[in-house]
Amino acid sequence: MLPVKMCISASAASRIIFQCLRFYCQKPPKKLRICEAVSSSDMGTNVKVQGWVRSVRHQKQNLFLHVNDGSSLQSLQVVASSQLNHRLLTFGSAVEVSGLLVKSPSRRQEVELQANQIHVVGECNPVDFPFKVKERHDLEYIRQFPHLRCRTNTFSSLLRIRSEATTAIQLYFRDKGYVQVHTPVITSNDCEGAGELFQVEPAFQEKQEEDGGQPFFSVPAYLVVSGQLHLEVIAGAFPGVFSFGPTFRAENSQSRRHLAEFFMVEAEISFTQSLEDLMKVMEEMFRSTTEHLLAQCPEDVALFHKHVTPGHNDNVDLMMKSSFNVITYTEAIDILNRSSQKFAFETDWGCDLQTEHEKYLVKHCGNIPLFVTDYPYTLKPFYARDNLDKPLHTVAAVDLLVPGVGELCGGTLREERLDLLKTRLALAGLDETYRWYLDLRRFGSVPHGGFGMGFERYLQCVLGVDNIRDVIPFPRYSHSCLL
Ligand code: 4AD
Ligand code: MG
Repeated sequence: MLPVKMCISASAASRIIFQCLRFYCQKPPKKLRICEAVSSSDMGTNVKVQGWVRSVRHQKQNLFLHVNDGSSLQSLQVVASSQLNHRLLTFGSAVEVSGLLVKSPSRRQEVELQANQIHVVGECNPVDFPFKVKERHDLEYIRQFPHLRCRTNTFSSLLRIRSEATTAIQLYFRDKGYVQVHTPVITSNDCEGAGELFQVEPAFQEKQEEDGGQPFFSVPAYLVVSGQLHLEVIAGAFPGVFSFGPTFRAENSQSRRHLAEFFMVEAEISFTQSLEDLMKVMEEMFRSTTEHLLAQCPEDVALFHKHVTPGHNDNVDLMMKSSFNVITYTEAIDILNRSSQKFAFETDWGCDLQTEHEKYLVKHCGNIPLFVTDYPYTLKPFYARDNLDKPLHTVAAVDLLVPGVGELCGGTLREERLDLLKTRLALAGLDETYRWYLDLRRFGSVPHGGFGMGFERYLQCVLGVDNIRDVIPFPRYSHSCLL
């Protein structure tokens, strides 16, 4: 090959060299999350943000965008010359924007981004996109789009609140010295004895059996309805343990407070002999989690208290200011029977409290959380500690009822007396199934107790959200479609 001769002037060469040097020496823009950008004081910094367009406004010379990346409720205002406008720059599109952070002349925000480059990473046809710019869609509407609803302010706030509440619960237990245990999702027990079980089988089981193989598990397997029994195992060697994970109940319910898959926080405390000890943990956990939320995501919580359930902040203030009430089940039944309200369900002693009863009791007792203790023996599972108080015959159980929701937590002291537990299991024909559980009472058994709190119901209570399907990313309930 012949060498190619290139002739350029000395000044052109130095220009090219200068430009190359400038290109290579220029500091790349600092990548910031939107929450960092909107609260930054580094004016004049060259930054890059990535996110989704929440609004676009064109003026003659300028283009205004609001970009959000889920890191905060606030979006970043981007100002650009209209030359940077692009037909794909629409509400909902994904963008990458570089430019200078400057002090905003408007009082609506402290900081804005003067863009010198806008790149549309993913287009979004605003006509087909189910959410419309500047429209506040209600929860019922956005619930129809579980795959897209995280793009709305409301659901994005909910997800941040959920994440922060999870952290708050973990912190509460960590600070109190509890050990977190990962209890199994697949189990052979029906802890609650209510038969609301989803069975687990390999999808290829039939074929496996046809081929002469064995079933996957040697006993029927189910999705867990409560991690309690496994927590009790570990509480046999620790003073306090907790778990926080998905829980499954095959309840054929379309109610606003039931899911087939929900998250439960469960705690188990060894060497405890009183329901008061359990109530103290429930109340402290509720308060510290709520205080943490109000301090860490005030804007997100305020969005719910302002736009979704106006005025609900007063209810939360009241709950946080007041000590929780305590009544016995027997007193609760008295209150219901003295009420002039007509209930759909019976209120005789021995009947289970229904949501309508729970909500009435909470209201009657001042609209603050209410502990109801000492339920009839027949209403609670085999593990509940017998109060041996015939003729009433109750167990050491406690439910925490909260305004607007009803039951938030359910707990009991556990029957640690081997003979009583054996008799109860034998009567239910479960002594073989729970032989290992009886062993816990044989080897170093201590008085202990615990409780479970429905995490979604907690969020409903604090945010004032009526339907449980609006506080979980992907709701599962009977007849629901699964994403
Ligand atoms: O009262 P539950 O059934 O208690 C137990 O499972 C105990 N074994 C817990 C324990 O002592 N470790 O359930 C606890 C809480 C309820 O109070 C309720 O808040 C929530 O779990 N929960 C549900 N939440 C949403 N959907 C459902 N289907 C729920 N069932 C119970
Ligand atoms: Mg319960």
